[in-house]
Amino acid sequence: MYTLEGITEEQLEAFVDTLQEEPKQEAAPFPGYEYPLACRELRSTDAQHLFRVMKRSAKHLKGYIGWAKYAPSWDYKTVQQFVNDHVNDVFPRFHLIFTIGKVVVGFGSLAPMSDPRSVQVALWTALGHERRGIGKWIVTVLEWYAFHVYGFDKVYYQHDATNRKSGKLPPALGYRFDHSFDDEVHAMQESGLWYSWVKDRPEGLPPGFIDTGHMGLWHKHTFPWKCLI
Ligand SMILES: CC(C)(COP(=O)(O)OP(=O)(O)OC[C@H]1O[C@@H](n2cnc3c(N)ncnc32)[C@H](O)[C@@H]1OP(=O)(O)O)[C@@H](O)C(=O)NCCC(=O)NCCS
Repeated sequence: MYTLEGITEEQLEAFVDTLQEEPKQEAAPFPGYEYPLACRELRSTDAQHLFRVMKRSAKHLKGYIGWAKYAPSWDYKTVQQFVNDHVNDVFPRFHLIFTIGKVVVGFGSLAPMSDPRSVQVALWTALGHERRGIGKWIVTVLEWYAFHVYGFDKVYYQHDATNRKSGKLPPALGYRFDHSFDDEVHAMQESGLWYSWVKDRPEGLPPGFIDTGHMGLWHKHTFPWKCLI
């Protein structure tokens, strides 16, 4: 049951307007593809879709994604375990699978920060689909969940200092540089020096899950695309 506690009338109106907005048309095909870019929450049955793309992309991901160095030896059962672990992750961990047609083109996650009112994004784009704007789109959708649905005050984007591809995204998406820090090295090309970028919650949004303890009406929100897997 959802309550109006803490929501002004103005905010409520804006909130309901957003929910009632019907997609005016089906999303257009993503540039260079026949289908729109779509996404949905990860499901426990997704190993069948992720197995091939994770194994195939491991070489390109292993520089900066910790799990990817082990992926060449993974069998289907290991991928299923990876999916189960992610599906059962606890808040604020949250995972989205990104597709174009029936092809998985990327993966995006929200992950905790030490400040419980902040969250960070993490992502990868599948081999063969990089440099087409998919990474930027993944971050944008994750931000939407972080600010609108969950109500975090800040979203962070953190990357190893030597990860030049990743480092292009936050300034292009309006993040400001916040600080650098040292961390343990997990992936093969990491230096251990990390850059942290931040974006503030836009003003005027109604409170989200972290303030109300419920998801409000967000589960009724419809996106203008349909995930085909
Ligand atoms: C980082 C990553 C997610 C970027 O995804 P992507 O889908 O290629 O990103 P986009 O197509 O939206 O491109 C974003 C920007 O990066 C630039 N870029 C992408 N690949 C690049 C490359 N190989 N060399 C230089 N610039 C590159 C693009 O030109 C674009 O810059 P622009 O603002 O000038 O247009 C992807 O390279 C990846 O999966 N890397 C391995 C995993 C990883 O490092 N994840 C992030 C961990 S912090």
